[in-house]
Amino acid sequence: MAEIGKDIVKAKLLLQKGKLVAIPTETVYGLAGNALDAEAVALIFETKNRPSFDPLILHTSSIERVEDFVVSFPEKLKMLAENFWPGPLTLLLPRKPIVPDLVTSGLDRVAVRVPKHPLTLALLESLDFPLAAPSANPFGYISPTSPAHVAAQLGEKIPHILDGGVCEVGLESTIVGLEEDEIVVYRLGGLEIATIEKLVGPVKIKDHSSSNPQAPGLLESHYAPRKPFILGDLRQLIAENIEAKSNFAVLSYSDYFPGILPGNQIALSPNKNLHEAAQNLFAAMRKLDEGNSAVILAELMPEEGLGRAINDRLRRAAAK
Ligand code: TXA
Ligand code: MG
Repeated sequence: MAEIGKDIVKAKLLLQKGKLVAIPTETVYGLAGNALDAEAVALIFETKNRPSFDPLILHTSSIERVEDFVVSFPEKLKMLAENFWPGPLTLLLPRKPIVPDLVTSGLDRVAVRVPKHPLTLALLESLDFPLAAPSANPFGYISPTSPAHVAAQLGEKIPHILDGGVCEVGLESTIVGLEEDEIVVYRLGGLEIATIEKLVGPVKIKDHSSSNPQAPGLLESHYAPRKPFILGDLRQLIAENIEAKSNFAVLSYSDYFPGILPGNQIALSPNKNLHEAAQNLFAAMRKLDEGNSAVILAELMPEEGLGRAINDRLRRAAAK
């Protein structure tokens, strides 16, 4: 069983030996290994049961260090990095050959980010290699936002979980790249589109679901509970399920419904705060997935700010 601790020296020694360590970030926990060691990277894919056509994000501690892995850093993207790193932003940049093919699935661009978490930043600073880290969940399942989430699913497979508490943002990073000098968003995430646009003007959003490796990793079904996850108008869904005598649980934005056991319903933010909803989302999905209901009924958030990224996760969870 994985050891859970706060000792970055221990984490460093394991990583130097080619082992994997779960690391806290502001978005979700990552399953980290030496990004320049093809064997460690292969172990990440194996541990997550992840198809090798789905590339990994390279994590490092500063903009300066990113230059070691990329052949150029276009001005527009650098501006984003300077403003939002450390933070929930991943940039796709033309890679140098030093980055193993397995990290990028053979693509020309490598995904890089500087995460915002004091423990992980200190760890990255102490290492002389970057960390490749996908979210620390089995492929397709809900991303972990606490050490306990990681332990529940990968605890038997990894030696160490670095305990950085509960993730502050709760949604994965926003992924951004350039196409013919135009900024393109490939995954909605913890950095809001409006915040990006305030700095660089209108951006294009290309977050279409696909099983095509060119539209990287955005598989239609993802972040998914094991139980059927049904999205719609909650009042109507609840009425139908009561009628059908089905054993259901409810995930709402802010409302609690009468006649449903407290353990079978979670409101993501009773005060309608989308940041709070984002922070609670994955833990709530897990909790209801582990409970005794047969299905989970859920509703979309307002389609604004972080609500867009939350809705993206909810739709993929329902796409099974
Ligand atoms: O917030 C996050 O980004 C978290 C934390 C741990 O940093 N990481 C994360 O990694 O969400 P993962 O592997 O679960 O999702 C990364 C996404 C995948 O959809 C992958 O396809 C895409 O990034 N990606 C990675 N490298 C890419 C590349 N070279 N080109 C295009 N997409 C890439
Ligand atoms: Mg993931």
